[in-house]
Amino acid sequence: MKNSFGFSLLFLLGACLLLAFSVLDQEPWVVPEKYQNLDNPITADDESMDIGKSLYNKHCKSCHGKEGLGDGSKAEQLDTPSGDFTDDYFTLQTDGSIYYKTVKGRDDMPSFEKKIPDSEDIWHVVNYIRSLAE
Ligand code: HEC
Repeated sequence: MKNSFGFSLLFLLGACLLLAFSVLDQEPWVVPEKYQNLDNPITADDESMDIGKSLYNKHCKSCHGKEGLGDGSKAEQLDTPSGDFTDDYFTLQTDGSIYYKTVKGRDDMPSFEKKIPDSEDIWHVVNYIRSLAE
């Protein structure tokens, strides 16, 4: 019965790996270089903050929370944490990376390509999210 022992061991290992992936961190979200280096064309002035804030409150706050800590009213229903817009992991990313993730989405994070079709509006949201860490 050597084989079935080997099989069980393999199965157990697989189960552990799956568990580790779902409980521990997620796979890193890789942003294509082209997007990482995108220039933010919108100055983060008061007007941009106002537009960004109202879009954020409408589309993002329910999951990401008022202050971007990942504690919105829907947060508990999500399979994956939505991140913390004030921590180093997040703030060290380029504006282009934040832009990319907002437009494309992944799993529980919706794609905003259609819901916020104007790219300038996405940049306003990026500017606003950035200000949450200050
Ligand atoms: C339905 C819940 C939900 C909504 C609404 C939502 N997000 Fe997310 N968001 C998530 C989740 C969950 C993740 C983590 C996704 C992952 O890592 O796979 C995430 C991740 C992100 C990230 C990447 C965070 C990181 O640490 O790199 C950015 C940027 C982001 N969201 C921006 C936004 C913006 C901007 C909006 C509104 C326009 C928004 N999100 C609306 C759930 C949501």
